[in-house]
Amino acid sequence: MEKAEQVIIALDYPTADGARKLLKSLQGIPCYMKVGMQLFYSEGPAFVRELKEQGYKVFLDLKMKDIPNTVMGGAESITRLGVDMFNVHASGGKQMMEAAKEGMEKALSQTSSKDRPILIAVTQLTSISQTVMNEEIGIPGSVEDTVVRYAVLAKDAGLDGVVASPHEVGPIKQAAGTGFYTVTPGIRPAGSDTGDQSRIMTPKQALDQGTDYLVIGRPVTAAADSRHALEAILKEMI
Ligand code: C5P
Repeated sequence: MEKAEQVIIALDYPTADGARKLLKSLQGIPCYMKVGMQLFYSEGPAFVRELKEQGYKVFLDLKMKDIPNTVMGGAESITRLGVDMFNVHASGGKQMMEAAKEGMEKALSQTSSKDRPILIAVTQLTSISQTVMNEEIGIPGSVEDTVVRYAVLAKDAGLDGVVASPHEVGPIKQAAGTGFYTVTPGIRPAGSDTGDQSRIMTPKQALDQGTDYLVIGRPVTAAADSRHALEAILKEMI
C-alpha cells in the first residue's frame, strides 16, 4: 500500500464547498476521505456519491450506537451507499456490532459489488483522558485496558478492526492479532497544535507502532497550504 493510501483525511467541514476546495488542493494524492457527522448531516449521501465518482475511497465516520435492530438498518443503508469503511461504537455491545455486520452482509448480498467495506468499532475517543474516563464516564481502570477489552469484543463480533489512539496499537495487535486493523486519529506532526486531542503521536511514531491507517484532520485542513502540509506528513512517513 502506498503511504498516501494509509492516510485518511478528515473532511470536517460544514458544507460540501469547503470540502471541495480542499479536494482541489489535494488533487492526485490517493488518500482516503473521511466524511463525519458535520458534513454528512448537512450534505447527506449525495456528497459521499460525489467522492466515490471521483474515485476516492471513503470512510463514513458516523459512529453508530443504538439498539441492534436500528444499527442493522443503518449499516444496510450505509453499505448500499458504496463506502469503503464505516464504524459503530464498541460500547454498544457485541450483539449490536454483530447486527451491524449482518446489515452490511444483507446489503452486499443484494448488490453486484464485490467490495466489502471495512467495518470497525470506536473504542475510546482520542479526546478522552484517563481522568475523564474514570471520573466523568465512570469506567474504572486504565484507558488501555478498556480499549483492549473493546477491541477483543469487536473481534469476537466479527468486525475488521478498531479506531483507537496510536498509543494503544501495540496492545490491540497483541490481543486481537496483527491482521486486525487499527485506524488511529490523534495524529499531530511534530510541533503542531494538539487542539482537543489528548492521546496523540506523530505520523512516524504511529506507523512505528504498527498502525494501519492514520486519520488526519486539522493539521491538513486548517493549514495555510494544505497540500504542502500533507506532502510534509507523507515525507515524514517514509
Ligand atoms: O482534526 P483532527 O486531526 O483532530 O481530526 C481527527 C478526526 O478523527 C475527527 O474527524 C474526529 O471526529 C475523528 N476521530 C477521533 N477520535 C476517535 C474517532 C474519530 O478524533 N476516537
